[in-house]
Amino acid sequence: MYLTFICVNPCRHWLNLWQTNETLVFCLADPGDAFLLPTPYYPGFDRDLKWRTGVEIVPIQCNSSNGFRITGSALEEAYQEAERRNLKVKGVLVTNPSNPLGITLSLTELNLLVNFISAKGIHLISDEIYSGLVFNSPDFVCIMEVLMNKKYKNAQVWDQIHIVYSLSKDLGIPGFRVGAIYSNNEMVISAATKMSSFGLVSSQTQYLLSAMLSDKNFTKNYVSESRKRVKHRQEMLIRGLRNVGIGCLESNAGLFCWVDMRHLLSSNTFEAELEIWKKIIYEVGLNMSPGSSCHCPEPGWFRVCFANMSEETLNLAMQRVKVFVNSTNTSGRNSNQYPNKNLRRKSLANWLSFHEHECER
Ligand SMILES: Cc1ncc(COP(=O)(O)O)c(C=O)c1O
Repeated sequence: MYLTFICVNPCRHWLNLWQTNETLVFCLADPGDAFLLPTPYYPGFDRDLKWRTGVEIVPIQCNSSNGFRITGSALEEAYQEAERRNLKVKGVLVTNPSNPLGITLSLTELNLLVNFISAKGIHLISDEIYSGLVFNSPDFVCIMEVLMNKKYKNAQVWDQIHIVYSLSKDLGIPGFRVGAIYSNNEMVISAATKMSSFGLVSSQTQYLLSAMLSDKNFTKNYVSESRKRVKHRQEMLIRGLRNVGIGCLESNAGLFCWVDMRHLLSSNTFEAELEIWKKIIYEVGLNMSPGSSCHCPEPGWFRVCFANMSEETLNLAMQRVKVFVNSTNTSGRNSNQYPNKNLRRKSLANWLSFHEHECER
């Protein structure tokens, strides 16, 4: 969800507005149409893409066997699944870098996506909201760079690709509600421009932002310092988890780690995953989003955000995880290491009511 801000350097392809993903879906699809999304995906998409537009999400099933990478067969299966459900597929939406995986899409995946949407005559929305937070190789490749390849120059597919961006993550100002759409499609820009009038930002915010973003030194230093800090925090988290025998998907970007706790499940089910999630939230006092909230097809994966806490808090969290893992026997049942369990249960009960909301971040 974003609000409009002044376009510092106006260009006919750029549009600054709020609700960028939703606006694009409104422009590209009718109620009852479908968008294909690779799993696991940002839980907020169920709200942003579906609730007001009436559009359906059909998952592109990606799994741990290849590090949750998008494959041609997974794309084709999702397309066929939509057809079986009598849904007209209007496009594919990807996040690059990914929330929740913390990885950038490879050139192979990007080419695969462009070829797929070109062959099917559908659209591609590339949500690049974390593109300034790539802290390790491989580098981020913007979908437009793939289009620059002469194979696609002046092809129909130019009009079928749209980028979503926002200042919420890279600049850490989600409260400003500022986002942008980039598209070469004049009809989309024209329709989205009309819709942008439903959410205008105050002129004070526009003024502040235009002053801030015009300061090239400030923005350059801010982004590079932020990358350094995020990288450091990610390394701390990975080290801490590794010390207690928990692995993560190898990541290079964003604000999340995709944590593998399959070995702690009492059974290979989503019920067992929720059991662990409840223990962690009630008894350990930490909140990790269960993979099921991101529509992960395999139980036992959790999303951990490492960017919204101090190093001290992260260290404390790691100590608690250690106690939790040590207390968990091989069958996934943990012994009572938490004498204040009931007390904590009471104070943390409120957390649970926030779960839906929390999982959407
Ligand atoms: C991939 C992705 N897209 C969009 C959003 C929405 O961002 P905002 O907070 O600016 O509404 C988020 C927020 O977490 C996100 O992860």
